[in-house]
Amino acid sequence: MNTTQTARPIRIGLVVGSTRPGRRGSAVARWAQQVASRQPAVRAGVAEIAVIDLAEQALPLLDEPVPAMFGTYRNPHTRRWSAMIDACDAFVFVTPEYNHSIPAALKNAIDFLSAEWNGKVAGLLSYGVQGGSRAADHLRLILAEVRAAVVPTQVSISIFTDFDFTGSDSGDPTAPGMLVPGEGREESLSTMLAEIVTWAGALRAAEAGLRPEPVG
Ligand SMILES: Cc1cc2nc3c(=O)[nH]c(=O)nc-3n(C[C@H](O)[C@H](O)[C@H](O)COP(=O)(O)O)c2cc1C
Repeated sequence: MNTTQTARPIRIGLVVGSTRPGRRGSAVARWAQQVASRQPAVRAGVAEIAVIDLAEQALPLLDEPVPAMFGTYRNPHTRRWSAMIDACDAFVFVTPEYNHSIPAALKNAIDFLSAEWNGKVAGLLSYGVQGGSRAADHLRLILAEVRAAVVPTQVSISIFTDFDFTGSDSGDPTAPGMLVPGEGREESLSTMLAEIVTWAGALRAAEAGLRPEPVG
């Protein structure tokens, strides 16, 4: 069976992990989407990007009586969320660092599901005062538990060096600044996206190889 000619594009969900009004996450995700749209695999139709904004999903705090690993969902919002994640082969998680970890909204969204994350590929794009590296470290551990494979290249955006606050009042805590990614950021993100496409393609090929040939 030739799977390469008929394969649908590798669907990469760009998960926007912060939800607060005025968040910088929107700018980081927009930049990631722009960089992704320039990737050879995306231009060739081998991969596609789907923005999954947790602010739009507006999931409540986990309200399923049965843990997700049993896969029996009671609530329509869980079934919708499940279908959205199930439809993806891979993810880029755009996460800020909140108190040395990921936002509660992102942890909650991951906790809602289980099998939908299993065997998927993930890339980490973090941001924070120091690049959000502690959030990324936590996210790596969480994704290991739901059996998602995190690619080695990681992208860190610093609020201090990758945002421009020219014209903002230095005492204004709501000033979002303007994202101006520093040298090498786009290259790192491109490398991460290329790894995601390669790994997701390899996993898909392995799965296809394991499936028995149709009889007759
Ligand atoms: C609740 C909260 C906790 C934060 N804790 C940290 C932190 O531990 N380390 C850090 O580098 N930045 C921290 N920050 C700064 C955020 O990384 C920065 O404000 C970032 O823009 C937040 O993402 P958002 O704008 O998408 O919400 C924190 C911000 C918030 C709102």
